[in-house]
Amino acid sequence: MTSTAQPPQPGAREAHPDHLGHVIFITAAAAMGGFLFGYDSSVINGATVAIQDRFDVNADMLGWIIATALLGCAVGAAIAGRVADRIGRIRCMQIASVLFAASAIGSALPFAAWDLTVWRFIGGIGIGMASVIGPAYIAEVAPPAYRGRLASFQQAAIVVGIAVSQLVNWGILNMADGDQRGEIGGLEAWQWMLGVMVVPAVLYGLLSFAIPESPRFLLSVGRAAEAKKVLAEVEGTTVDVDARAAEIERAMHREDKSTFKDLLGGKFGFLPIVWIGIFLSIFQQLVGINVIFYYSNQLWQSIGHDPSSSFLYSFETSIVNIVGTVIAMIFVDRIGRKPLALIGSAGMAVALFTMAWAFSYRTGSGDDVSLPHGQGLVAIIAANAFVLFFALSWGVVVWVLLGEIFPNRIRAAALGVAASAQWLANFAITKTFPSMSEWSLTGSYIIYGAFAALSIPFVAKFVKETKGKTLEEMG
Ligand code: GLC
Repeated sequence: MTSTAQPPQPGAREAHPDHLGHVIFITAAAAMGGFLFGYDSSVINGATVAIQDRFDVNADMLGWIIATALLGCAVGAAIAGRVADRIGRIRCMQIASVLFAASAIGSALPFAAWDLTVWRFIGGIGIGMASVIGPAYIAEVAPPAYRGRLASFQQAAIVVGIAVSQLVNWGILNMADGDQRGEIGGLEAWQWMLGVMVVPAVLYGLLSFAIPESPRFLLSVGRAAEAKKVLAEVEGTTVDVDARAAEIERAMHREDKSTFKDLLGGKFGFLPIVWIGIFLSIFQQLVGINVIFYYSNQLWQSIGHDPSSSFLYSFETSIVNIVGTVIAMIFVDRIGRKPLALIGSAGMAVALFTMAWAFSYRTGSGDDVSLPHGQGLVAIIAANAFVLFFALSWGVVVWVLLGEIFPNRIRAAALGVAASAQWLANFAITKTFPSMSEWSLTGSYIIYGAFAALSIPFVAKFVKETKGKTLEEMG
C-alpha cells in the first residue's frame, strides 16, 4: 500500500525497501544483458584458430573479424539511447536479445568469412545496446540506498559471462579432443562455441517480459499511473510515490533536454558532464584490461608457457576478476565510488609497472621465448593484482557512474555516447596490442600504467561522489 500521508523522504535513502527481493530479480534479469556482453565479447577467442583454418584467412583478416564486432558494439551503444528514449528500455532489451540470438545462429553456420564478419557485427550491435540499457535501466529502477550495489550486478554479470565463455569453450574443446575443428554431432567445435550463446540470448528476451518498464521512461511519455505503480513496486511502501513521481517530473522539466543535440553545449562541444562520462569510459579501456581478457593465452605463451597452462592462467584471472567484483559490490555503497576508483587506479598503476619490469627480462624470439623463473612469477602475480584492482574499482565503478551521473532527460543518450567512446577505445587497444607487443611488451605496459596513473588526478578533480543520493538530487 502506498501512503501519501508520509512526508517526502530523506528516509528513502535509508529505508529498507519492502520489495528488495523483487528489485533484485528485476536487476538480475536486466543484467542478463551484461552476461551476454561478457560472453559474446570473449567467446571468439576460443575459436580463432579454427576460423583462420576453415576460411583460409590471414592474421590481419582474422583481426578484422574480431574487431568488427567491437565496432558493432560502438554502433549499438550509440543508437541504444535514442531507441530506449523512443520505445522504452524493455523493448530495447528485446531488440538486443533478437540480435544476440540471430548472431549466435548466423556465426555458428556461416557460408564464408564475410558473412561471419557480418554476423559478428550484428552481435556487436546487441552487445553495445545491452551495455547501455543495463546500467540505465538498473539505475532508474533501483532505490538509492542500494543503487550502487544493484548497478554493479551488470559488471558482475559481465565478468561471469567472460568466465563462463572460457569454461564452455574449454568443455567443447575437450569433447572435440582438443581440436577446434573437431566434429561433435555434425558441427565443428568452434561452431558450437559461437552457437550455444543462443540459449542465454533467448532467456534474456523471455525475462524482459517479466520485468516492468522504467518509471522514468513511463513519466517521460506521460504514463504517470503506470509509473507510480512501478515506483511502489520497486521503492517499497515506505516511499511516497506521488512525491517521488513529482520529484522525477520536476527534474525532467528543470533539465528540459531531450535530444542528442542537447548533449552539446559549453566550450568543448559536449556538456562537461558528458565529457566526464567519456573520459571515465576511455580511461577504463586505456589501462589495457581487455588485453588480458582477449589475449592472455597468447601473452602467457609469449613468455614461454605452454597452451594448456596458459589457458589455466587465463581462467584463473577470470576468477580473480569475479572475486574483485564481489569486493566492489560490498563496498560501492559503503565507501563510495570515488575512493574505490582512486584505490583501483593506484593499485593498477603499480601492478602494470611491475609487469613492465618483469617483461623486460624476456629473452629469445619466435616460439623460443622465456622469462627467468623469478620474473615469470612476478609477471603472473602482478597481472592478477592488476585484474583484482581493476575489478574492485574501475570495472564496477564506471558502469555504475555511467548509470547515475547524467541528468534524467539526457541519461540514455549521454550514456550511449560515453559507452560508444568506451567501445572505440576498446577497439583501439585490442587492434593495436599485437603490433604493440611486437614492438615491446615492456613499453606497452608502461603506457597502460601511465594511463592508470593519469586517471588519479582526473578522478580526484572531476568525479563527484554519487553514493546514496537520488538520481534527481544529482541532476
Ligand atoms: C568492464 C569493461 C569491459 C571488460 C570487463 C572486464 O566491463 O567495460 O570492457 O571486458 O570490465 O571485467
